[in-house]
Amino acid sequence: MPLTLPSCQHLDAQDPLRSLRDWFDLPPGMVYLDGNSLGALPRATARRLQAVVQQEWGVGLIRSYNTAQWFEQPHLLGDRLAPWLGAGGGEVVVTDTTSVNLYKVLSVAMAMAAQDRPQQRVLLSEQGNFPTDLYMAESLCAQHGWQLRCVPAVELAQHLTPEVGVLMLTHVHYRTGAMWDMGLWSQRAHDVGALAVWDLAHSAGAVPLALKADHADFAVGCGYKYLNGGPGAPAFVWAHPQHLERASQPLSGWWGHAQPFAFVPGYEPAPGMGRFLCGSQSVLAMAALGCGLAAFEHSLPLGGMAALRQKSLALTDAFIGLVQTHCAGHGLVLETPLDHAQRGSQVSFSCPEGAYAVVQALIERQVIGDFRAGNPSLGEPDIMRFGFTPLYVGFEDVWRAVAALKDVLDSGSWRDPRFAIPNPVT
Ligand SMILES: Cc1ncc(COP(=O)(O)O)c(C=O)c1O
Repeated sequence: MPLTLPSCQHLDAQDPLRSLRDWFDLPPGMVYLDGNSLGALPRATARRLQAVVQQEWGVGLIRSYNTAQWFEQPHLLGDRLAPWLGAGGGEVVVTDTTSVNLYKVLSVAMAMAAQDRPQQRVLLSEQGNFPTDLYMAESLCAQHGWQLRCVPAVELAQHLTPEVGVLMLTHVHYRTGAMWDMGLWSQRAHDVGALAVWDLAHSAGAVPLALKADHADFAVGCGYKYLNGGPGAPAFVWAHPQHLERASQPLSGWWGHAQPFAFVPGYEPAPGMGRFLCGSQSVLAMAALGCGLAAFEHSLPLGGMAALRQKSLALTDAFIGLVQTHCAGHGLVLETPLDHAQRGSQVSFSCPEGAYAVVQALIERQVIGDFRAGNPSLGEPDIMRFGFTPLYVGFEDVWRAVAALKDVLDSGSWRDPRFAIPNPVT
């Protein structure tokens, strides 16, 4: 049965996760499909930040490092995040940015590989991987005399040869939303003696994860996307406990020291994941991330990640079906896998009629998605991206987004020159 507005409203009314939307402060009338770039604002965040500023900072001042557990926050937040990643207590710290954390874990993985198998000096990745991952890998490979091998995703298996020391993949692709099988590719990396490093930027909070069961070696990810931690929220880092003792990351700042307040000469890494910290953390940003995690925790009595995943797939299925039915004839091409096992929580369409301008026209109608330019040398088309955060997106949102897209395309309103004006952030 094709979906209609009343059937979408019915799906919302039946949705056991519906109440979770109330934990967020979304502008009335807006359809927000960009939680894969910047998650929505949890209602609790403003009040919490005000309390941290006025009480913990204003009154508690320096004492709050002890009395309000500011110092422990990277670990406390890491422990709250760990179950959503398929990791254990003490295995995750929240800190720095994804790029910086990637630098740390790649350095560790490369050092371990070089020590164990000195002939394995290739870092393998996908050529369409998120640029920061490849930029970081490029710099590390140049520093350490490694070769960075970037290949088309479909050719990954044939390039996973015995010279590969580290396989670095983004679990859910930032452009297409295509998801790698983490267990399969971690195993394939291990089969050639390589370590598997995963970027979970588009996975954490979006899809079920089982880092330990899937035998990943290291992982990093963002706090500001599906985790709703706010713009520039701290990122996270996970290392398999079996690697911890050897994990000596190069950004050896005092927060990663075994005794940061002993002020002793000489660096000695903290015994646990604290060794992945570097310097002082943003307490305000960590407080905001705590509110994002709380929104997830409210989903636990309602089925947690399994229920969120089921809804996410239903939302993306509905969006794909409605776009294909109602926006036919405009040359939109689905860039996201139809197979649920290979799909994250976003849907991308290429749009030969001008993906950037169409997205701007949608934004003017309060339907917020985003645009990602394709790299012509890789044969990538420009795409429109739509993220579906099941915590706060509903089926009526899907209907309204597709209705707006149909209208923008059918009317040609996107051709107005104001929609072609480039923004620095797309
Ligand atoms: C896959 C992926 N990795 C890393 C990043 C960047 O992370 P950060 O800016 O926190 O370093 C992004 C940002 O969108 C991303 O999509």
